Amino acid sequence: MFWRKSNDTSNTRETEVDAPNPVNTIPQMPPQPTPSRPSFGAPYIVPPHTSATIGHAPGLVNPSTGRSISSPIENWLKSLHDKHCQNHFGQMASYIPELTKADPKHFGIVLAAADGKSYAVGDSEVLFTIQSISKPLVYGLALEDHGPDHVLHHVGVEPTGEAFNSIVMDEINNRPFNPMVNAGAIATTALIRGSGREHRFNRILDMFSRYAGRRLTVDESVFESERATGHRNRAIAYLQLNSGMIEEPVAEHLDLYFRQCAILVSARDLAMMAATLANNGVNPLTGERAIAAEHVKTVLSVMASCGMYDYSGEWVYRVGLPAKSGVGGGIIAVLPGQFGVGTFSPLLDEHGNSHRGIEVCKELSQRFHLHVYDMHFVADNIVRRSFRGGGVTSKRLRGQRERKILDAHGHKILAYELQGGLYFATAEQLVRRIVVDCFQATHVILDGRRISRADQSALLLLRDLSLALSAEGKTLLLADLPAQVEADWQDVAGASIRATCVSDVDAALEYSENMLILEFDPKALAIETRLPLAQMDILQSFSQDEIKRLQPFIETECYEAGSRIIREGDPADRLYLLAAGTATVDVMLDDGKRRARLAAFRPGVAFGEFALFDGGRRVANVVAEAPSECYVVDFKKLEQLEAIEPALYRKLLFALGRLLTDRLRRVTAEVRALT
Ligand code: DON
Repeated sequence: MFWRKSNDTSNTRETEVDAPNPVNTIPQMPPQPTPSRPSFGAPYIVPPHTSATIGHAPGLVNPSTGRSISSPIENWLKSLHDKHCQNHFGQMASYIPELTKADPKHFGIVLAAADGKSYAVGDSEVLFTIQSISKPLVYGLALEDHGPDHVLHHVGVEPTGEAFNSIVMDEINNRPFNPMVNAGAIATTALIRGSGREHRFNRILDMFSRYAGRRLTVDESVFESERATGHRNRAIAYLQLNSGMIEEPVAEHLDLYFRQCAILVSARDLAMMAATLANNGVNPLTGERAIAAEHVKTVLSVMASCGMYDYSGEWVYRVGLPAKSGVGGGIIAVLPGQFGVGTFSPLLDEHGNSHRGIEVCKELSQRFHLHVYDMHFVADNIVRRSFRGGGVTSKRLRGQRERKILDAHGHKILAYELQGGLYFATAEQLVRRIVVDCFQATHVILDGRRISRADQSALLLLRDLSLALSAEGKTLLLADLPAQVEADWQDVAGASIRATCVSDVDAALEYSENMLILEFDPKALAIETRLPLAQMDILQSFSQDEIKRLQPFIETECYEAGSRIIREGDPADRLYLLAAGTATVDVMLDDGKRRARLAAFRPGVAFGEFALFDGGRRVANVVAEAPSECYVVDFKKLEQLEAIEPALYRKLLFALGRLLTDRLRRVTAEVRALT
């Protein structure tokens, strides 16, 4: 019998007994039976070691000095390469006659980081055929063409524990066991869409080229060689046709399969392909997407469970990286999010995997603890610091009426400065903390300035938190998120909570303060009515009579929205009391290009007072945000006040002194709250 039932536990290699032994029809070779299991693994005798060409990749070059030190990774790869150059164990694949022409001495290793930086040693540029490493890539294309459900219906995901060319099928589900063995790969290739052989193949070649970041080509002689001798694969395909696993045109599917296996790559190409998978499907050098992000994990999963055939279990045990080998001598291995490796050495072990490639991956994984289950990170501390409103306020200086409310209720604003990556474990940590802290809070602000990234699980948790908070009448505000995180948040959050993203923490604080003030004093935020002089903060201790006597020394000025009340560089010779409207102080930053908001004022607040004490010139602009009015005290008028009403003058100076000490005290309290 040809089929192994998936519940068959006998683990016998039925193909040894039952597989047909088709006659090899290549004319220049004597007719031979095709072995059911290609024999690899006998030692290949080569002349004493001829030092392999080391691809001297430059060290890490400092662009300004042009000097470099050698990279420790490169050095280590070189020593690994030197060591395994001496190892001549294995045999070249001979069941595809053309493959015996490969040079057994060739040996290359390339490691490519997920950002595209690569380290190459040995024969990193020598071309060879990709063979079975095509299988996970074509599987990805089938997933894109049909979606996971349809593909799973046609090709399973169970390891066979059998050789790559075994003729065993999952009889219960009427499909090949997995896409990494020949039977599964032929069924996967049969799923590739397109109008005719050429179009379908070009789609495959285009995709492989996007992975590699360069236009790839086909080794026509290897293709012809396998096409002429690949009777076993042909048998597999027709058996699959017979059981309805694939449909016609079978000859075309087989041609496509043989051709995809004959695509030429180098170890560097393989490393870039692996790095593309590590980079969630985008080639890090070209920026081109090779495979939709949603399918990357599926491809990596079957690579991890089935990529090394009947060595897959031991591979996961010893190396622990999703990988795929090919009888051309290549291996790719991927550490998701971090890097990809491509190795090339055509000497194969008894499983059909490159012997040196396996040794290299084993040592690489062990030396640097790269096994995917060997991650000992404890979740980072996601909260850098937290504070409450009231103690820390927005940059808007508020009049007494508003300040009183914030002094009493500001603690209801909770803010967290976040740092590092937001992923499930750190988001869980954060959410847990907020749930405990937010008992009395009305507003929760997350400062995202120092977030490096946020994954879907974290964003989903935050969305659920946001919904739970709003069900309790509380608001979650996300401030200053990195652009990508903000875009992902918009996708996850949905329309109802989109408004919770704000430009920066100050805006979030000010918004929360305004909401609190409105709750306790709905009229407090009105800016259009002019406050009388008596309601200016610095004049609170002045009697009606004193205010009246001050009046002649004070002028009133009106400003359009957007106009400058104070201009940077002007002589500082006036004190301003904001009677209506709002104003902001903005300064040019050191880079001479950007401006930043230093402070903002609400009615009742005095500004420009420093000038009274130090003279000089204005160092910032003060701009009216809305139509505004100020009481203006010109310093010349103050001199007159001093002469005519010395006691009133002294009282005013004293009030200004109090204003400054009050502001200093608040700043000190803020510094304390933030340290
Ligand atoms: O179908 C075959 O037999 C080859 N074209 C590919 C097999 C292969 O690469 C197995 N890998 N180690």
